[in-house]
Amino acid sequence: MPDDEIILTTSQFLQVEKLSLLGAMLAGITHEINNPLNYVSMAKDSLKDELKDLDKTLQILTEDPEAEEIRIKFQQKFDKLYTLLSDIEMGLMKVSTINSSMRNYSRFDQLIDENVALKEILEETEIILANKLKRFTYSKYIDSIPAVACNRSQISQVIANLLTNACDSLTEKKGKESSFNGQIRAKIFLLREDIVRIQVEDNGDGIKLEIRDKIFEPFFTTKSKSDGMGLGLTISMNIVKNHKGNISVSHSEDLGGAKFIIDLPVRLTQEK
Ligand SMILES: Nc1ncnc2c1ncn2[C@@H]1O[C@H](COP(=O)(O)OP(=O)(O)OP(=O)(O)O)[C@@H](O)[C@H]1O
Ligand SMILES: [Mg+2]
Repeated sequence: MPDDEIILTTSQFLQVEKLSLLGAMLAGITHEINNPLNYVSMAKDSLKDELKDLDKTLQILTEDPEAEEIRIKFQQKFDKLYTLLSDIEMGLMKVSTINSSMRNYSRFDQLIDENVALKEILEETEIILANKLKRFTYSKYIDSIPAVACNRSQISQVIANLLTNACDSLTEKKGKESSFNGQIRAKIFLLREDIVRIQVEDNGDGIKLEIRDKIFEPFFTTKSKSDGMGLGLTISMNIVKNHKGNISVSHSEDLGGAKFIIDLPVRLTQEK
């Protein structure tokens, strides 16, 4: 085996090990969170029912016109309680969405799901990266596309790598010009009847022509050791190839930075 191949295989092995460890950890955490989440959610439902009952009883008790003042006072209190309850509901919904996104992301198995909505994968990945993305203007355009046969967590991993790289590039540019407004745009559309295209572009400094064919090589990085290993794109390319797709990079005409393009077949034939 040539040296390059050994390095690639070892690095992929390490990365897969790292991902499956992270996957197991995330799966454990989401499982643990799910339990209290369920009983808080059930307690919230009971609280809501009790509150409605109490509200009704008090309305009946204060039907007398002379008790109107009391009724109004109670009504104000109840309105406040309902508002607080809907804040709790909103918070619970958010925690539950984050938790199920983490659970899907952590499924580092080799399964190919037959009908995956790429829109959902993108949304789940956005939730995972919410902290990074919120520092920039993030927009997306998703056309109506058919469900795709793919490995959810692997494709999520690829999208996460591209979005993370875009954020890194924008952070670097912002470090140089503090007034810089970083922009990231994701697009998903049908390129041909049987091919979907996922695009991630940004308005960072882009990728110089002379290194464009190197960025997919293992360990190629322009970042400091602590910031990047130079494996994100290597792993992404391998995942996309395993899906019989293609990944490429170019200059973003619209935003001025880098543009990554992934073409995936809608249907995967089983033989590889
Ligand atoms: N959106 C982008 N804008 C500018 N340069 C980019 C972008 N995406 C990738 N690159 C360049 O490609 C190189 C390789 O990217 P890759 O994701 O493989 O590794 P990394 O981000 O450096 O490290 P890792 O992903 O392992 O943390 C980066 O170091 C950077 O120079
Ligand atoms: Mg990277």
